[in-house]
Amino acid sequence: MFHHLFGSTTSSPAKTNRLHLRLLLLLLQPKRLSHSQPNKTSSSLQSEDPLFIAQLILNDNTKALALTLEKCSGVHWSTHLVDAVLKRLWNHGPKALRFFESLDRHPTYQHSTSTFDYAIDIAGRLRDYKTLWTLLSRMRRRRLGPTPKTFAIITERYVAAGKADRSVKIFLSMHEHGCPQDLSSFNMFLDVLCKSKRVEMAHSLFKVFNRRFRADTITYNIIANGWCLIKRTPKALETLKEMVERGLTPSLATYNILLKGFFRAGQLKEAWQFFTQMKKRGCELDVITYTTVVHGFGVAGEVEKARRVFRGMIGEGCLPSVATYNALVQVLCKKDNVENALAVFDEMAKKGYVPNATTYTVIIRGLCHAGEMDRAMEFMERMKDDDQCEPNVQTYNVVIRYLCDAGELEKGLDVFGKMGGGACLPNLDTYNILIGAMFVRKRSDDLLVAGRLLMEMVDKGFIPRKFTFNRVLNGLLLTGNQGFAKEILRVQSRLRRLPREFKL
Ligand SMILES: *[C@@H]1O[C@H](CO)[C@@H](O)[C@H](O)[C@H]1NC(C)=O
Ligand SMILES: *[C@@H]1O[C@H](CO)[C@@H](O)[C@H](O)[C@H]1NC(C)=O
Repeated sequence: MFHHLFGSTTSSPAKTNRLHLRLLLLLLQPKRLSHSQPNKTSSSLQSEDPLFIAQLILNDNTKALALTLEKCSGVHWSTHLVDAVLKRLWNHGPKALRFFESLDRHPTYQHSTSTFDYAIDIAGRLRDYKTLWTLLSRMRRRRLGPTPKTFAIITERYVAAGKADRSVKIFLSMHEHGCPQDLSSFNMFLDVLCKSKRVEMAHSLFKVFNRRFRADTITYNIIANGWCLIKRTPKALETLKEMVERGLTPSLATYNILLKGFFRAGQLKEAWQFFTQMKKRGCELDVITYTTVVHGFGVAGEVEKARRVFRGMIGEGCLPSVATYNALVQVLCKKDNVENALAVFDEMAKKGYVPNATTYTVIIRGLCHAGEMDRAMEFMERMKDDDQCEPNVQTYNVVIRYLCDAGELEKGLDVFGKMGGGACLPNLDTYNILIGAMFVRKRSDDLLVAGRLLMEMVDKGFIPRKFTFNRVLNGLLLTGNQGFAKEILRVQSRLRRLPREFKL
């Protein structure tokens, strides 16, 4: 929507000027906005664009975002809009929380459960546990939750921060926060553990509690999937056996999990046998089955076999999905030839499939890998013109990584500069890629850039690894930037000392 109104926000200077002009015009009309209820045509539409609001917030350095709220005084805040803005601000956690907080005092609008969940998720990512629990009790006071989903989010954040033991305690004390445990929250929690490769812990909990919660097919699938994720297919098969002994019937999802597990563990022969058995026994294979096989063989370098399965699936009564096409395009890029991948990309469009950001990113990576940087950049521009499919942070990271690897640091920084405006904020990977690249040329100026990037990522709530800190510090010291190094050292010790805390 935004792109239609303003043109691309990032490309030419002319477009940038047009954007500024539009912004200015809009800012000059707050009165008119504030007196009319939003009217889905004309200028109020622009101000209810999440991207536009996110940009206002990013440029607003007042404490309670007073400028933004004033400029948005005519905006009709809704859960949908606020959630969309928070998504836009995802990679600038402190600003996102400030936005949440400012709107929490709004006279007519009230946050709903999903918005609280977003805020709690962001606080968890910032490892700001105090804010997280404050938000949780506020949510409870307003009878908006917490829900099992809220706890799935919280436990996931604790596990991601390496606090799996704490997450178990949290799960076991959910009921004290007004959210009783049940089978579905048990399943969600086991899934969080399994997906972060803590299947052993999940399995022990499963053994203790599976009768109490009456473990079902989904529970067993989660545990089997956990074993598959760490390539222990024999344990997954054991889980399957136990499931059948308990009188539960494996579902197609169960078989798909095992199939994927065989591929992941490199057991191609077993995978193929399993797949043919599934067909022989009259199992109604679904598109996930076929996508798994196409991807599995392709990644293992058996491109012809992957293609054959892809071509055969329609005859066997199953239409490919966008995910199947993405899998094929990906393996052709990786193990075959990017031109063949482009041919499939074109075929996809001809057959009426709409490529999404993942499809584009896979193609862009393929082009970069083949050294075709210019064509890769062209594809990225095509995405910007495609309303449904703006480049996402993965797209940017691929392009930046390849530019830096090719020694084109300036171009890489240039692409990075286009992200900051709010269309797509950089994430932790983006910073790590760029900071790493600043050491290649061994230039003193580059190290200053690395230092600035490091400070910027801390401002945005990312926690750099110790390795990154040390590397930048050493570099600055070696190039005679003692003052800057000291400043960074202060930031580092502040991060280490204080529990992370966002002032509510
Ligand atoms: C919305 O605004 C446009 C232009 O300002 C006006 O022409 C239209 O009548 C308005 N529609 C409603 C439903 O108020
Ligand atoms: C693209 O589509 C596939 C299949 O539906 C999905 O798995 C993937 O997450 C989508 N990518 C994006 C960026 O939405």
